[in-house]
Amino acid sequence: MLHIKDINHVVYRHADLDLLERFLLDFGLTVSHRTEQRLYLRGTGTLPYVYIAERADTPSLGAIAFAVESFADLHAAERLPGASAIQALKHPGGGHCVVLHDPSGRRIELVHGIQPVEALAQRSALVLNSAVEKRRFGDVQRPGKGPAKVMRLGHVAIGVADMPSMIGWYRNVLGMLPSDLIVEGDEQDCPSAAFLRLNRGINWTDHHTIALFQANRDVIHHASFEVQDFDAQCLGHEWMDDQGWTPFWGVGRHVLGSQIFDYWRDPSGNLIEHFTDGDLFNHTSPMNCTQACDSSLYQWGPPMSVEYFLGGSNENEPVTPRSLAERRRHTR
Ligand SMILES: [Fe+2]
Repeated sequence: MLHIKDINHVVYRHADLDLLERFLLDFGLTVSHRTEQRLYLRGTGTLPYVYIAERADTPSLGAIAFAVESFADLHAAERLPGASAIQALKHPGGGHCVVLHDPSGRRIELVHGIQPVEALAQRSALVLNSAVEKRRFGDVQRPGKGPAKVMRLGHVAIGVADMPSMIGWYRNVLGMLPSDLIVEGDEQDCPSAAFLRLNRGINWTDHHTIALFQANRDVIHHASFEVQDFDAQCLGHEWMDDQGWTPFWGVGRHVLGSQIFDYWRDPSGNLIEHFTDGDLFNHTSPMNCTQACDSSLYQWGPPMSVEYFLGGSNENEPVTPRSLAERRRHTR
């Protein structure tokens, strides 16, 4: 079995890298490197990039990359059906990768040996006083305005046409474990959504690293990035709104995974999410099945847009930041 450490980065293709850069900076990522064709963006952690934007006429998701524990995992991966040979990564920080493709043809990269960089400054999580438990004494709460600094990539959600074969591949090839299924009736073999986590043994890991949503075709749904806490998320929402970007859905709290979520559309029309306070599972955590219903996706928050289920970039009109004047007209 492959030993996957974590999701590492995503590769997206965009027509306008300058506009995308404005968006992603407001979203809370930091540019770490750029070339004529590529923009590399990092979070505050030690990875040199968590998001690679490639210049292309047609927007799409280029790849999802996972970090494996050791070079031996790359050797094991290159023996898988359809796998590439081990190849050097031509990105900042070097390293090596093996390229696979899931049953929908989506490019999956397994990477190892990328040189870490120094973490960026990041405020500590706020110390909260609950009604019963007081933990902050003689100190004030001033998190400060600005973008919600992205700390790491957390998960990717994709729409899939053939749910059984996709679940089978992510379970059997990448070794993922199902945390939650959304089902209609007792259709466990073909759920309408599957939330899959990494198999990290006894170690705790995110409730899901890949989410699969049943769709009429294979399409990227969203990529999700973790921020420090609830205040960071709300202040980040306010920041994005003030810069004229169009909110999609949030702030609210999901049911499956429990994350507090906040979705935006990037300039190419892709959904991108801030999350915080997600559940952690390990190999002993049981799989749960939930019947599909309106309340299966969120506990609280604004009403869910029906467009949430449409997801993917290519159907969506590209968006540009609203001017402040236009925004004021909308909010009057
Ligand atoms: Fe998500």
